[in-house]
Amino acid sequence: ASTLGAQAAQSGRYFGTAVAAGRLGDGVYTTILDREFNSVTAENEMKWDATERSRGSFTFGPADQIVNRALGRGQRVRGHTLVWHSQLPGWVNSIRDAGTLRSVMNHHINTLVSRYRGKIHSWDVVNEAFADGGSGQLRGSVFRDVLGTGFLEEAFRSARSADPSAKLCYNDYNIENWSDAKTQGVYRLVRDFKARGVPIDCVGLQAHFGAGGPPASFQTTLSNFAALGVDVQITELDIAQAPPSAYANTVRACMNVARCTGITVWGIRDSDSWRSGENPLLFDRGGNKKPAYQATLSAMGGS
Ligand code: G3I
Repeated sequence: ASTLGAQAAQSGRYFGTAVAAGRLGDGVYTTILDREFNSVTAENEMKWDATERSRGSFTFGPADQIVNRALGRGQRVRGHTLVWHSQLPGWVNSIRDAGTLRSVMNHHINTLVSRYRGKIHSWDVVNEAFADGGSGQLRGSVFRDVLGTGFLEEAFRSARSADPSAKLCYNDYNIENWSDAKTQGVYRLVRDFKARGVPIDCVGLQAHFGAGGPPASFQTTLSNFAALGVDVQITELDIAQAPPSAYANTVRACMNVARCTGITVWGIRDSDSWRSGENPLLFDRGGNKKPAYQATLSAMGGS
C-alpha cells in the first residue's frame, strides 16, 4: 500500500499520530492526517489539566472533537493519559490525605473512561511513573507519596471496571534499552501484575529517540515485554533529525514482534512537534514527505 495506515493494516497493525485539537482547522494538516493515519492520540486534550482543572468540574470539548472526528473517519483512538505526575492541576498536587486522593483519582479515571467507553482502543492508564537513572523504582509524585506504590494497581483496576473493552497500557519513555534499570523496573511491574491478575494489556514505549535511533536491544525489549503476555505499542515516536535508517530500524523492530500491534508518531509535520527544533517527524513544515517517510513505509513492506 502507499500510505502508512493502509500498509500497517496489512499486518493487522495501526499507524497513528498525535493530534492537537487546535490544528484541526488547518487543511494541510487534516489532509495528511486523514490520508496517512488510522489511529490518533490527543496530544494534550485528555490530560488531567485539560479535563478536570478544578475538582469535579470536567471539560471535554477539545477531547470530544478529536474522538468524534477520528471515529467518524474510521480511525481508532488511543486514550492519553489518566494518571501522570505532570500536567497535573495544582489542586491535585496539594492533596495530602490518602482517602481524598484515592477518591479523586478513581473519580477522574471513572469519569474519563466511562465517557469514552467503547470508543478507545487503548488507554495509557499510568504514564511515566518510573524514575530516571539507576534506581529502577517509582519516581516521587503526589500519587506515590500519598497513596504508596499501590496507586498503580488501583488505577488499572478502576479503568478496567469503567471500560472492560479498552486495552489498558502502562506508558513510559527511556524503557527501550533492555539493560536500563528503568526498563527492568517496568518489566518487574508488568510481571507482578500478570502474576497477581491485576488487569494490564499493553506496554507503551514512547520512543523519543536521539539521531542514533533505537538502542540495539530495542527488539529484544519489545519481545521480552510481549513474552509476559501483553501487547507492546510504540506510542510517541520521534527521532532527532529523522534519519531514514533510524526510523526504519524502529519500525522493523515492531514488525518483527508479533505482539507489537501499532506505532504512533508524536505529531505530523516538524512544525507540529514538541521538539520542532530537531525536525524529528515524517513530514516537513510544508507537509511534504521526508526521506524518513519513505523509509518507514518501506520498512513495513509498502511503497
Ligand atoms: O494550552 C496552554 C495555553 O493555554 C498557554 O497559553 C500556553 C503558554 O505556554 O501553553 C499551553 O499549554 C502547553 C501545551 O503543551 C499545549 O500546547 C504547555 O505549555 C506545554 O507544556 C504543553 O507541552 C506538551 C507536553 O507534553 C507537556 O508535558 C506537549 O505539547 C506534548 O507534546 C507533550 O507530550 C508528552 C506526552 O504527553 C508524554 N510523553 C512525553 C511527551 C513529550 O513531552
